[in-house]
Amino acid sequence: MWPRWLMPRPPARPRPTEAATVWPPLAPSATDATAQPAVPAQASRRLALYCEGVTKVYRGPRPVQALRGVSLQVAEGEFVALMGPSGSGKSTLLHILGGIDTPTGGRVVLDGVDLGTLDAEALTRLRRERTGFVFQFFNLLPTLTVWENVDLPFALGAAHNGYRAERVHHNLARMGLLGYEQHTPQELSGGEQQRVAIARALVTRPAIVFADEPTGNLDYATSAEILQLLRTCAREYGQTIVLVTHSAAAAAYADRVLLVRDGQIHDEIVLGRREDHSATALIARLAELGL
Ligand SMILES: Nc1ncnc2c1ncn2[C@@H]1O[C@H](COP(=O)(O)OP(=O)(O)OP(=O)(O)O)[C@@H](O)[C@H]1O
Ligand SMILES: [Mg+2]
Repeated sequence: MWPRWLMPRPPARPRPTEAATVWPPLAPSATDATAQPAVPAQASRRLALYCEGVTKVYRGPRPVQALRGVSLQVAEGEFVALMGPSGSGKSTLLHILGGIDTPTGGRVVLDGVDLGTLDAEALTRLRRERTGFVFQFFNLLPTLTVWENVDLPFALGAAHNGYRAERVHHNLARMGLLGYEQHTPQELSGGEQQRVAIARALVTRPAIVFADEPTGNLDYATSAEILQLLRTCAREYGQTIVLVTHSAAAAAYADRVLLVRDGQIHDEIVLGRREDHSATALIARLAELGL
């Protein structure tokens, strides 16, 4: 039994107006690499995240249409990877799904909340409490200690129900960082810094963790460790993970891989839940698709 301060948040009450909030809403994928379902067959799981017809145009002297009508659905506790060529719109999509950026058109529903209905303050609060972000270059504050970096969301006002120190301690322990509390980021290796960033992303118990090339700057063994930690978040804590990566080896940790091309979801490869994270099946499927 988990201590009370670690208990998962009760799911947001389903809203009667939201039709597509139950998994699985998608037809079985024609590109199923292993013929295993992405989620257990008995599951009728809530959607953690979905978007419909999302477009994004970056205005300027030379407008760029970065997203051209993206619709996708991610179930609670699912681990989804976004892959695609440089400039295809992966980061733009991740930022819009996570409420860091706003779409030009379409809508995003995160943890039961339509982001388009929120004002700036409510959006900031929702982002702080229900999402966690992990980036390629860690984005730790160099003048703060490890403890202070992980505590930052609370320092900025995220709710902790009186369990602030316990949450920080627990997430440092989860990431194998006990003993490093008083270190500063520059005293840590890249892998350790990324583990601090993940602890910070998890400390508010977010419904969804967004990770943009979190292993892009790490060696193979450290990358495997980080990906395993993210997978554990999905398996053991029911958190939803959306990972952007260029690496098939990284994407092989996911339940499902969405292929982004020219601002659209071009294809989907269902890998299913499994212990084998070899990228062989995924690489073969990517080759079949000519990618
Ligand atoms: N702030 C911005 N202003 C103008 N154009 C932008 C901006 N951010 C991204 N773009 C453009 O939008 C398109 C998609 O960019 P995005 O960063 O989403 O690609 P990506 O798939 O993440 O690429 P990479 O794999 O290189 O990180 C690109 O053409 C890019 O130049
Ligand atoms: Mg990117």
